[in-house]
Amino acid sequence: MKILHYLAAFLPVAWCAGLGHAIHNPIIPGWNPDPAVLRVGNEYFIATSSMEYWPGIPIYRSTDLEKWELYSHALTRPEQLQLYGTPTSAGAWAPSMSFINGKFYITAVTRWTYDPVAKVWPRAFWISSTDLKHWSDPIWGDPWGIDPELFQDPESKNVYLNIMAPNNNVDRLWGISQCQVNLVSGRCIGQYRSIWNGTLPHTSDARPEGPKMFKRGRWYYLLIAEGGTDELHRASIARSSTAEGPWEANPNNPLIYNGAYGFKNLTVQSTGHATMFETGDGDWYAVFLARRNINGTSPLGRETFLCSVEWEDDWPVFNNGQPILLNDASEPKPIPSPFVDTFGKSKLDPSWYTLRTPYSKMYTVGRRAGSKGLILHPNVFSLSERDVPAAVLRKQTSLNMKFSAMLLPVKGGLGSRQTVGISAYLSELQHQDIGLAGCAEQRGLCVYTTLINNGTSKHAEYPLNMTKVNNLTFDIRAEPLEYRLGYSLGKTGTRWLASFPSSWMATAPPNWFVFDGAMFGLFASGNGEPWPVDGPQVGFGRVEEVYFQEDIPDYDV
Ligand SMILES: *[C@@H]1O[C@H](CO)[C@@H](O)[C@H](O)[C@H]1NC(C)=O
Ligand SMILES: *[C@@H]1O[C@H](CO)[C@@H](O)[C@H](O)[C@H]1NC(C)=O
Ligand SMILES: *[C@@H]1O[C@H](CO)[C@@H](O)[C@H](O)[C@H]1NC(C)=O
Ligand SMILES: *[C@@H]1O[C@H](CO)[C@@H](O)[C@H](O)[C@H]1NC(C)=O
Ligand SMILES: *[C@@H]1O[C@H](CO)[C@@H](O)[C@H](O)[C@H]1NC(C)=O
Ligand SMILES: *[C@@H]1O[C@H](CO)[C@@H](O)[C@H](O)[C@H]1NC(C)=O
Repeated sequence: MKILHYLAAFLPVAWCAGLGHAIHNPIIPGWNPDPAVLRVGNEYFIATSSMEYWPGIPIYRSTDLEKWELYSHALTRPEQLQLYGTPTSAGAWAPSMSFINGKFYITAVTRWTYDPVAKVWPRAFWISSTDLKHWSDPIWGDPWGIDPELFQDPESKNVYLNIMAPNNNVDRLWGISQCQVNLVSGRCIGQYRSIWNGTLPHTSDARPEGPKMFKRGRWYYLLIAEGGTDELHRASIARSSTAEGPWEANPNNPLIYNGAYGFKNLTVQSTGHATMFETGDGDWYAVFLARRNINGTSPLGRETFLCSVEWEDDWPVFNNGQPILLNDASEPKPIPSPFVDTFGKSKLDPSWYTLRTPYSKMYTVGRRAGSKGLILHPNVFSLSERDVPAAVLRKQTSLNMKFSAMLLPVKGGLGSRQTVGISAYLSELQHQDIGLAGCAEQRGLCVYTTLINNGTSKHAEYPLNMTKVNNLTFDIRAEPLEYRLGYSLGKTGTRWLASFPSSWMATAPPNWFVFDGAMFGLFASGNGEPWPVDGPQVGFGRVEEVYFQEDIPDYDV
């Protein structure tokens, strides 16, 4: 009877949502772009993009709009998400959340690849659920494009698919299109039409996207993102007296656009891709994505932000018309307590991800791992391949933190091709690793560092003068401007071996995209060969993340 529970939750509730606390942005730190929000009674749910990571589309839950916990993932089965050979930043993009005929829906696209020769385009789909935890297989939508959304007109009960799509297959000018759809077949059952091209000169750079439709009072609203994903990114809105238009643009667009104050001025940039919602007692807010610029780049990618919304003449005003700053709150954001994982449960903590759709089991935890920790099952693939290496990764959630991982004892037998270590990971093209391998130049075990950035690779090894090793911990110290890689043996202090600028966690070689943000990963690899049958068992006994005050100024100076 879960469905009834949620239906009841949609009835007006006497619940006071008055925040009663300052907004500490980002509300969900670490890369979480394209937030879509849905209120269910006195609970709020936010779904975000997950790109090439598995499982796909995290859903966060909050009751106070301040503390957000990871609640579930929408895409957990290969039938729902096929990421085979998917390059960095493609994959599952831009969810929308809706409640239609007693069920929750998420619409999204899978961006298989960017390869222009392959002419493979993103495919829109929707999945449904009665509890926001267990989701159906996808229904594939008729139109192609990105950022699809299902909107049910509360008056007619018609269901519309709104999507960013090209005007035709020749000049490919993108805009917002719409058709009435059949939820079961995915087919358009009404005319497929262009409904709004946004407020910018309609060139290929205008990129009106992320449609979010809702009704308030007598008006239907169409909220969109515009200007592309970088400095011109913004949110704009139009309204109409019907769900099918015609759409009249807000005279005060854009609703939110930090780029207006100089691209290199405010720390918070690329504010857009918003969703608006009403609390139980009639206050309005918006969630949206934004980047925190650190000396010009954003290692944590696009994070989820919140701002208040007021209404004037039936038009929304975001954040009282002011730019989004980090330090608006009177007191600084509390420092989170450390994250510690000893992998004792039968399942991996859901904050760990793997890359792409799994072919086989890549790790064992809990009692099956002898309660020792996380045992990795290395394969031929490394973090540099568009495949599924034996690796688990977590989002970097603070600009000032330390990630440490203690290796399980290695009783020798590691060749120079077999590696086990940790990574400050952005993509298969950019990752900075410290690990253990058999020494290439001599006998015994070596700690090595490999720095892979912008098409270059720098490798160094440091002999431990040991053939087996106990109590080896790898560390990544991430500060706003610089990352360091180091290790310690037992109780000796950390020996820092390599460092690199934080911009390496935010940039890609020419012609590649960066839609993700920094991750910290644990990996083991045969680097092109299967792990030897007599190779040692490898893994990690304990991971710890310690956070420090971020202290990021409002201006990126
Ligand atoms: C949007 O632009 C395309 C291409 O110029 C045009 O065909 C379409 O009619 C426009 N849509 C609207 C609603 O103005
Ligand atoms: C930088 O942003 C601040 C805050 O919005 C604004 O007052 C200031 O004029 C901006 N500076 C420039 C050079 O645009
Ligand atoms: C800031 O970025 C510039 C390049 O844009 C670079 O030259 C400089 O070293 C960076 N500063 C720091 C402290 O990393
Ligand atoms: C990356 O390498 C290319 C050459 O392949 C070069 O043109 C570009 O300036 C480099 N980018 C950075 C940020 O160093
Ligand atoms: C291993 O021995 C080499 C050569 O004596 C030395 O340079 C190196 O510091 C030693 N490594 C460690 C971890 O002590
Ligand atoms: C090293 O590891 C062993 C178990 O492998 C443990 O008994 C010992 O206390 C550890 N020593 C230190 C210094 O951490």
